[in-house]
Amino acid sequence: MAFFDFLSNDVGIDLGTANTLIHVRHKGIVINEPTVVAVDKQTDKVVAIGAEAKRMVGRTPGDIIAVRPLKDGVITAITSVEALLKDFLRRSMKYSLFVRPRVVCGVPSGSTEVEKRAVYDSLAQAGAREVYLVAEPMAAAIGMDIPVEDPSGNMVVDIGGGTSEIAVIALYGIVCDASVRVGGDEIDEAIVLYLKKTYSLLVGESTAEQIKMKIGSAWPLEEELEMEVKGRDLVAGIPKTMRIKSEEIREAIKEPIDRIVGAVKQALEQTPPELSADILDKGIVLTGGGAMLRGLDELLMRETELPVNVIDEPLDRVVLGTAKILENFEKYKKVLLPSGR
Ligand SMILES: Nc1ncnc2c1ncn2[C@@H]1O[C@H](COP(=O)(O)OP(=O)(O)OP(=O)(O)O)[C@@H](O)[C@H]1O
Ligand SMILES: [Mg+2]
Repeated sequence: MAFFDFLSNDVGIDLGTANTLIHVRHKGIVINEPTVVAVDKQTDKVVAIGAEAKRMVGRTPGDIIAVRPLKDGVITAITSVEALLKDFLRRSMKYSLFVRPRVVCGVPSGSTEVEKRAVYDSLAQAGAREVYLVAEPMAAAIGMDIPVEDPSGNMVVDIGGGTSEIAVIALYGIVCDASVRVGGDEIDEAIVLYLKKTYSLLVGESTAEQIKMKIGSAWPLEEELEMEVKGRDLVAGIPKTMRIKSEEIREAIKEPIDRIVGAVKQALEQTPPELSADILDKGIVLTGGGAMLRGLDELLMRETELPVNVIDEPLDRVVLGTAKILENFEKYKKVLLPSGR
């Protein structure tokens, strides 16, 4: 390791709707926590950040509210994001705050200038020396070791908490993309709604997320699953337990899932023919937490008639991509967005 490596702090960030990850050069992923901030309404003070704050969602005492400062991939509560990034950066840089870090951060590919500036400014505010932004599907592709420099096209589908982004990548660029503001959050909401309508059972978003992870699916399972769900009976107003089947949940989440499938098809339709031929050979790669939904690959395979693969460690790919960009900055600087300040 060269001496200058010690001085230069390179930090890659995936500021996601659901999770924020930070990678520090020579250290690896040092932060991997929910993008949640707990705020005291009375004093406007931040009382907890990340994992600790997420534990408070839906069960906070009177004056404390848990804020999720990103919605659909976009910053909606700027001061909370600044507090979160400042805290996470400080914790990442624990032993190495000689030089303010150079940062590469992923943003949704459909971000507006205003949205990109909000990310840029929060990072600068949080202490970054240089800030570069990259489209999340591009970072994910690099993080999956896809040769983005090749003239041959690759299709990446990143299903996150707030957005699903589809991109065809070739020659360091995103040739065509589609993005829908539908992700894991909408799937959770669909589960909440279903239980309320069908059983008058009220559950919080964390419970809905657990149901999705435990028994959720997009395609019939070889062995269907079921689980006990605890919530509040809306009629009697008291706690109640129900047994819920995976078939029901599949039906409940059909609408958001169909929108994701629709976006993939739309991107395929817009793909130039030469690149379509590449994708026909190589298929589609799924990443992001939503890629872990059971049977989503199967459903996409049937709907597109293409090979579909889920990458392993789908939650880490964007941040690993930002790290790789920093490590090979000269090579990858072409993929950075001409934005910020
Ligand atoms: N096993 C699983 N099955 C289904 N969904 C899952 C599973 N594990 C995680 N998820 C979902 O993945 C989502 C989080 O994924 P990820 O961390 O990639 O999103 P993000 O990057 O924070 O969001 P975005 O990219 O939209 O801003 C959550 O909605 C979570 O519920
Ligand atoms: Mg993401």
